[in-house]
Amino acid sequence: MNACNLILILTLFFTLSIQSSLSFEDNTTENQQHYFELTHPLVPDTDTPPSCSVNLLNHTFTNTSTNTTFTVNYTPPPTTCKWSHAVLEFQARCNSSTPMHDRVAGVWIARVELLRTSTAQPTENGSFWSVQKDVSKYSSIITTQDNSTSFSVMLETLDNENLTGVYQVNVSMHFYDHNAFRFPLSSVVGDLEGYKKNRKLTSVDDKGVGDMLGLYPYDTHADMIIPISGDEGYWFRIENESDVKKTNVSIDERTYKAVLELYISSHGEEEFWYLTPPDSYTKLNNLVAGKGKGAYREVLVTIDGKLVGTVIPTPVIFTSGINPSFWKPVVAIGAFNHPSYNIDLTPYLGLLLDDKNHSIEIQVAEGGSYWLVDANMHIWLGSSHVQAIVEYEPPSMEIENDYEFEGLEGEFEIEVERSSSAVGLVQSGLGNIITTKVTEEINFKNKLKFKEQGTRIELDQKIKRKTKVKITDASGNSIGKYEIERTYPLKITVVTQPWYGKGISTVSTTVVQERSESFSNENVILRALNHDVNCTGSMLVNGNSIMSGSAVNHQNYYYKDGFGCYSRKVNVLEGNVVADESNSICIE
Ligand SMILES: *[C@@H]1O[C@H](CO)[C@@H](O)[C@H](O)[C@H]1NC(C)=O
Ligand SMILES: *[C@@H]1O[C@H](CO)[C@@H](O)[C@H](O)[C@H]1NC(C)=O
Ligand SMILES: *[C@@H]1O[C@H](CO)[C@@H](O)[C@H](O)[C@H]1NC(C)=O
Ligand SMILES: *[C@@H]1O[C@H](CO)[C@@H](O)[C@H](O)[C@H]1NC(C)=O
Ligand SMILES: *[C@@H]1O[C@H](CO)[C@@H](O)[C@H](O)[C@H]1NC(C)=O
Ligand SMILES: *[C@@H]1O[C@H](CO)[C@@H](O)[C@H](O)[C@H]1NC(C)=O
Ligand SMILES: *[C@@H]1O[C@H](CO)[C@@H](O)[C@H](O)[C@H]1NC(C)=O
Ligand SMILES: *[C@@H]1O[C@H](CO)[C@@H](O)[C@H](O)[C@H]1NC(C)=O
Ligand SMILES: *[C@@H]1O[C@H](CO)[C@@H](O)[C@H](O)[C@H]1NC(C)=O
Ligand SMILES: *[C@@H]1O[C@H](CO)[C@@H](O)[C@H](O)[C@H]1NC(C)=O
Ligand SMILES: *[C@@H]1O[C@H](CO)[C@@H](O)[C@H](O)[C@H]1NC(C)=O
Ligand SMILES: *[C@@H]1O[C@H](CO)[C@@H](O)[C@H](O)[C@H]1NC(C)=O
Repeated sequence: MNACNLILILTLFFTLSIQSSLSFEDNTTENQQHYFELTHPLVPDTDTPPSCSVNLLNHTFTNTSTNTTFTVNYTPPPTTCKWSHAVLEFQARCNSSTPMHDRVAGVWIARVELLRTSTAQPTENGSFWSVQKDVSKYSSIITTQDNSTSFSVMLETLDNENLTGVYQVNVSMHFYDHNAFRFPLSSVVGDLEGYKKNRKLTSVDDKGVGDMLGLYPYDTHADMIIPISGDEGYWFRIENESDVKKTNVSIDERTYKAVLELYISSHGEEEFWYLTPPDSYTKLNNLVAGKGKGAYREVLVTIDGKLVGTVIPTPVIFTSGINPSFWKPVVAIGAFNHPSYNIDLTPYLGLLLDDKNHSIEIQVAEGGSYWLVDANMHIWLGSSHVQAIVEYEPPSMEIENDYEFEGLEGEFEIEVERSSSAVGLVQSGLGNIITTKVTEEINFKNKLKFKEQGTRIELDQKIKRKTKVKITDASGNSIGKYEIERTYPLKITVVTQPWYGKGISTVSTTVVQERSESFSNENVILRALNHDVNCTGSMLVNGNSIMSGSAVNHQNYYYKDGFGCYSRKVNVLEGNVVADESNSICIE
């Protein structure tokens, strides 16, 4: 019985064949459940209209198992529209109550990904959600005037005879003028230069090394973005550890700064990679074979086979994850707006600046089936050829596994320490030399416990990533010093107990998750974000069906930048928002 329970949980987690027992109904808009993810306002004052808006796509995805991609010609904002900030709005409606499967979606312009998102759970009366994202940093692609540029939305799903729901998706872009009002909660710091560049991306004649100094901060807009994506322009589907996706790129020799931005999501057997016990445990206990790779995954990026950066992804819990009742109507961190990850390639420009093709390879260490990954290479151009030298040293890594188990009870601990330090020298045509040193420390700790004959699963995980960038001139004087610190703790417990009657169990669940990020310049914090989630609840489960569920979800969000602060606190009880307070008081 107990072993069965564990298998049940593993099945719940790994096969995702959860079906809802709700009925088919198509109800009016007013009754539709409105889902949302906590974030700070992207527009300071909702009364201030955008300078202009463009509706890019209206499409109804019907059978998304055969037709996952929808592509139209991209419509840029009118050239007369004055703007400094672009906000992408993705709205979706689902009219069916049956599909409990989470679907992942992405939005691309000219194969450059702008948003990775996932679907909300359907409810009896249908559901509705809207995602807004500041996409200003993609300005070079947003302003493209080439009328054959593609605009694509992909919605990937499992579909079968029982899942007849349709997704209606509308995507728009709203453009706001920075100068028209104070923009207190901009997610972009110091981007005035970026704004100037916005409108004339191909004429960079006036740019010299002066710009190289002032423009370093991460969120200034790149002059060019090169997609590192699948053949058809979309995500790479990575099936296993040896599945290496390669793209050839040849970059402009005027490049003085490059950042690779990765979009990553895990699905199928890999959706709950952080809750995976090692092979030895699953084998000895005769559990579902091949599904016990342990809880370490890392996305590796190489240039011509040389490792240049890695990402240990932050778990994103989809809307039917762990306990579906948790995520109604407030979803988990990143469910609607997946984080993307930056790898600074500036110190590695010496590997790329020779007018030749270079191979950028992406793979998932210990990865199984499947991961959806792609990348955007953001490139900043100077006015003349840049010479670059790299002192290449591969990142170092230490991994420690500590496994101990007897029968179904056990403790599995993994600790990974990854550190890298790269120094690159770039010299502009004018002879100025700038040295960029990027050091990064990644720390991953995953402690997984199976107790009480495997009926109690406890996870305690922490991911920490600290990046330092130091820029110096030819005489060794500091020009800039940036530091980014991110911490992502996650605690999950799942306790399964038999209920009266055959095959029925109660499953008690908790999820405590945090996202904490800060960005500082010369030790002054320019931007900080703190998002806490605390959910507790239980479900009554029969086989693979959830019969009923109850939940409490508390979330706190705090954001601060050079212009102001924003905080919001939301409490949800059994799917009803019982408290929702926000203010703009700064907490020291
Ligand atoms: C959802 O809407 C589509 C199109 O309007 C309709 O064909 C379909 O029957 C609806 N599905 C349900 C479950 O109501
Ligand atoms: C939802 O719509 C269906 C038919 O469209 C209707 O029969 C049903 O009563 C509605 N449900 C509720 C709870 O109003
Ligand atoms: C989407 O629908 C709206 C309202 O019907 C329409 O004004 C708009 O042109 C449509 N957009 C596209 C891209 O078809
Ligand atoms: C969706 O496509 C699949 C695969 O072609 C097919 O088996 C299924 O019947 C289709 N479902 C609907 C509702 O059309
Ligand atoms: C898939 O969608 C495209 C429009 O994006 C449509 O032209 C095509 O007929 C669809 N194919 C199938 C098999 O439904
Ligand atoms: C999309 O646009 C159409 C036409 O304007 C509208 O009828 C529909 O309600 C919109 N859907 C969503 C999800 O906003
Ligand atoms: C669906 O709509 C009906 C009618 O407004 C309402 O009574 C019912 O509670 C709604 N169901 C859900 C799950 O929100
Ligand atoms: C695209 O632009 C070219 C040149 O400006 C023009 O000839 C062509 O008709 C345009 N195509 C579309 C679909 O607007
Ligand atoms: C659809 O639902 C029926 C009844 O619950 C079930 O017997 C059948 O296996 C399901 N089909 C699929 C493809 O899941
Ligand atoms: C890994 O996945 C690729 C792509 O699906 C496949 O061709 C290859 O056979 C797989 N390798 C292993 C060892 O499973
Ligand atoms: C990349 O370039 C290499 C050598 O230049 C070539 O052999 C390879 O086929 C190219 N790969 C792709 C995917 O274009
Ligand atoms: C989470 O919330 C529960 C009550 O719902 C509380 O007992 C617990 O201490 C909270 N945990 C954290 C880490 O805040």
